[in-house]
Amino acid sequence: MLAHTPQLIVALDYPDAFRALEMAQQLIPARPWMKVGLELLMHAGPRIVADLRDLGLDVFLDGKFHDIPNTVAGAVRGAVITGARMVNVHAGGGLRMMRAAREAADVAAMTNALPRPLLIGVTVLTSLSEEELREEVGCARSATAQVIALARLAREVGLDGVVASVLEAAAIKEACGPDFLVITPGIRPARADDDQRRVATPAAAARAGADFLVVGRPITQAENPLAACEAIQAEIRGTANG
Ligand code: C5P
Repeated sequence: MLAHTPQLIVALDYPDAFRALEMAQQLIPARPWMKVGLELLMHAGPRIVADLRDLGLDVFLDGKFHDIPNTVAGAVRGAVITGARMVNVHAGGGLRMMRAAREAADVAAMTNALPRPLLIGVTVLTSLSEEELREEVGCARSATAQVIALARLAREVGLDGVVASVLEAAAIKEACGPDFLVITPGIRPARADDDQRRVATPAAAARAGADFLVVGRPITQAENPLAACEAIQAEIRGTANG
């Protein structure tokens, strides 16, 4: 039996606020978290986070900040003020950058009387192959070794967790401890068939120790998104109870 039940985050990958809010409204009865990624952020602006919060939904602002420490700190301050409950930065930006992000989140939350959002590190993008990582990015380690190294750094500076594939979730928990959060995209219900290749089912992600599961198209493109969302939540709970 799992000690906890992972939370479901629905990726609202839309090029406009209207469609994103329409989808969010349909999903309100299931109360999943909402993920605002770069596409929606650039089309709808940061105000979309407050609009989703007004529907009573928690928001992961997936801005994947990666810049010099001072600039990332400023971006994190802005992200905190949107009311997002989870924000991320690239762990590859280094210790000083992550530390600046953490300090900015603490100060912005305190001065605006808001809860500090969970601060999450992006490790290695799962879209990169081992070969691309080695030949193009110039990383000598394997993808898994790099993910674990970056997760350790993120933990060292006080980030709350990392984004990683289900395949790496157990190793991250082993290296960083059970309380260090693992957020896993690439989730597909058993019979899905689309362009995602390195995928895991919701039950497998929960068993691997993931704390948050990010799911987009299997819900947003379903004939009945609410039913699809509830079915995935039931699969996660089934794992948690059994
Ligand atoms: O539609 P789908 O379930 O594939 O959406 C997955 C979401 O997770 C997208 O918003 C995508 O940007 C995000 N993501 C991912 N792989 C990563 C990191 C984020 O698919 N490594």
